[in-house]
Amino acid sequence: MGRRYRKNRVLPILEKVEITAFAAEGKSLARVNDKVVFVPLTIPGDVVDIQLTRSRSSFSEGKVIAFHKKSDLRIEPACQHFGICGGCKWQMLDYKKQLEIKQNHVLENFQHLGNFDFPPHFPILPSKNIYFYRNKLEFTFSNRKWLTEYSKEIDFEERSMDGLGFHLPKMFDRILDLENCHLQKEPSNSIRLSIRNFAIENKISFYSPRKQEGYLRNLIIRTASTGDLMVILVVRDDDKQTLELVMNHLATNFPEITSLMSIINTNLNDSTNGMRAELFKGNPFIMEQMEDIKFKIGPLSFYQTNSEQAYEMYKIGREYAKLTGKEIVYDLYTGTGTIANFVAKNAKKVIGIEYVPEAIEDAIENSKINQIDNTSFYAGDMVKVLTPEFVVENGKPDVIITDPPRAGMHESVVTQLLNMEAKRIIYISCNPATQARDIDLLKTKYKVSKVQPLDMFPQTHHVENIVLLDLI
Ligand SMILES: C[S@@+](CC[C@H](N)C(=O)[O-])C[C@H]1O[C@@H](n2cnc3c(N)ncnc32)[C@H](O)[C@@H]1O
Repeated sequence: MGRRYRKNRVLPILEKVEITAFAAEGKSLARVNDKVVFVPLTIPGDVVDIQLTRSRSSFSEGKVIAFHKKSDLRIEPACQHFGICGGCKWQMLDYKKQLEIKQNHVLENFQHLGNFDFPPHFPILPSKNIYFYRNKLEFTFSNRKWLTEYSKEIDFEERSMDGLGFHLPKMFDRILDLENCHLQKEPSNSIRLSIRNFAIENKISFYSPRKQEGYLRNLIIRTASTGDLMVILVVRDDDKQTLELVMNHLATNFPEITSLMSIINTNLNDSTNGMRAELFKGNPFIMEQMEDIKFKIGPLSFYQTNSEQAYEMYKIGREYAKLTGKEIVYDLYTGTGTIANFVAKNAKKVIGIEYVPEAIEDAIENSKINQIDNTSFYAGDMVKVLTPEFVVENGKPDVIITDPPRAGMHESVVTQLLNMEAKRIIYISCNPATQARDIDLLKTKYKVSKVQPLDMFPQTHHVENIVLLDLI
């Protein structure tokens, strides 16, 4: 019999608790009666009252209901939405401190999980921009915005419940109506506010996830260093008249938009994967550029969200690869082939593998655009594609670059890496825990020569890490 869920159990409040350490996932923790309590949006040195929200035998979780003392480490957050919005949760920490915690997180994972003889590691590479660094944001329209203290004061009759912004953590239907977001540079904020106000004034309905009705669903804004700007409006049904009204508003007020598109999403969830985007104005893509290589980014194409830091990361990967032009390089989990195309001119040939077929189409297109003819791309699950037969057909790799998702590599992929015995492996990861786990398995044939943490997402706990492994 499954465990009974006691719906109305009231959990206790813990009073005047001192937060003592940083923990995983950007939270901090306190110890109360020998039990660990995880508390988001706190940092060591805070003294707080905690309303427990979850209690297990080994740990608890809670949220702050009152501050008695604020940590000396705290600084003033830049954003007015801090504390309510689910993004940028580390704004109360000085950037230097954020970097220190991220670097320690990488080291701890390697020491704890890998038991490594640690090589001289490099200090974490900071992001040049610590705000306004994202090239893509996706906002949600909802007819149930979250009422902040300010909006509660507005007379009920005047108060619109329509909002455009980000989902509140753990609430599928509540939206924080953003006034000023610090994640993407202008005209991102202006476009979002303009379309929200225009829709409210013209009584165009905002989506209701509860009732599954309402016209406007999502707004996606993508920028590029070339100056290209893509705006995609996701709507619920094929109402051409209303679409034209909104799109004309955007086209007239923001002539800098180089790609204006729409998607009709009739599904229950917000995912637009595999959907058709209709062009309203401009090109059906934007162009990004790194050195002399151009990347064509379609409405649904993946591209690293912090372009400047992605460039730094690729440069480090290329430096670690030490290519002379004679090497066969495998770029595993290649996405849209950005790394493969970036290193192609320094290699004999590059093989990219990725399981999203549309991403592989983009990778091939990007090779064509740049007249790169020494790349080949394969779509499929890594476990199934990267077989001994595949290696015989494509040639044994001299260098492997691998950039798997957060879950890391499947054990059989790691085994295959060991069998291939490439001279060097460059392992890029957004999850040092799974990276350390995988590298622990590679230790029988490889030594860790370099470790370079890199900050791709300031104001969050996320960290990227690049490791160079040399065949022993
Ligand atoms: C971290 S991203 C790599 C991004 C890419 N290297 C870049 O810089 O743009 C991980 C990629 O692995 C792909 N992926 C995840 N699981 C996979 C699998 N089992 N087989 C092949 N590709 C997979 C994802 O679709 C995603 O594109």
